[in-house]
Amino acid sequence: MKKKITLIGAGQIGGTLAHLIALKELGNVVLFDVAAGIAKGKALDIAQSSPVNKFNIDLIGTDNYEDTKNSDVIIVTAGVPRKPGMTRDDLLGINLKIIKQVAEGIKKTSPDAFVICITNPLDVIVMALQKYSGMPKNKIVGMAGILDSSRFIYFLSQELKLPVQKIKSFVLGGHGDSMVAMLGSTEVDGKKIKELVKEGIIQKEKLEEIVERTKKGGAEIVKFLEKGSAFYAPAASGVEMAESYLKDLKKQLPCAAYLTGEYGFKEIYAGVPVIIGKSGVEKIVELDLTDEENSNFSKSIDAVKQLFDAAKKIDPKLA
Ligand code: APR
Repeated sequence: MKKKITLIGAGQIGGTLAHLIALKELGNVVLFDVAAGIAKGKALDIAQSSPVNKFNIDLIGTDNYEDTKNSDVIIVTAGVPRKPGMTRDDLLGINLKIIKQVAEGIKKTSPDAFVICITNPLDVIVMALQKYSGMPKNKIVGMAGILDSSRFIYFLSQELKLPVQKIKSFVLGGHGDSMVAMLGSTEVDGKKIKELVKEGIIQKEKLEEIVERTKKGGAEIVKFLEKGSAFYAPAASGVEMAESYLKDLKKQLPCAAYLTGEYGFKEIYAGVPVIIGKSGVEKIVELDLTDEENSNFSKSIDAVKQLFDAAKKIDPKLA
């Protein structure tokens, strides 16, 4: 039987997710949006590409949670994206309200689903989604680290004039300006990036510039687009998580997961490497961090905590 994948939010990311899932035939797709017409129109448009692209799945659009019942995977992008000059944190108040509605909808209709949250500000919204829904913490996870790592790897590949496949790296911590590129775990063709700096293949300043550009990677795109934020790379990253769960691939992926003491933190969501398989988040992988990475990771967690405190002021029920 085909798997059922529900996309809550049929905007830029939701529509792109639907298209990628269709091309990969990962499962039948339900596009849900409060704006039913957008969900229905995109579902129909993608379905009409099936004879050309030769995929065989069902796609529907809806504004009724009953149609999403018993989903295997739910990907949440409902919410408002950034406008130029805004930080992800500026979206907190409005997106918290939206996520509360979403949590109520999905817990009634798909309590066993694996839920991937993409709505920003990511770490706090995924935590709110878990608290509002009461669904298991290993089944609710946030998409950010794959995207941030992908941006970092892409920029490095452009600088080093190497294919992206040659570069391995992780960007961890919160999905904001405090995110941490793990240089100690960054390898180019099997060699540590720090060796490349020593050998003069990449200047230290250039590497720092790339780390900074990665932190502001989302804002760079918001500035170009003027209306809306990035959607192709975020959707591709969400699909990689869904696929690892649905096919039990047990891939190690950087995701926002609920920490229970790992890296010295607990009761908070933050970006760490996790194994995603058929049980959801099956394991949190603890990398050996350098002192500098450790200190930057702690600062990043502090930033997430501060924003969560702000969320609790908006809605004391989150406490
Ligand atoms: N339930 C379902 N859908 C909703 C709700 C709701 N309560 N409220 C808003 N939506 C829908 C909107 O109607 C819109 O179609 O969410 C969709 C969001 O789509 P876009 O505005 O195109 O935003 P997108 O670029 O897809 O980003 C969505 O992901 O990366 C984050 O920062 C980004 O928070 C933003 C989210």
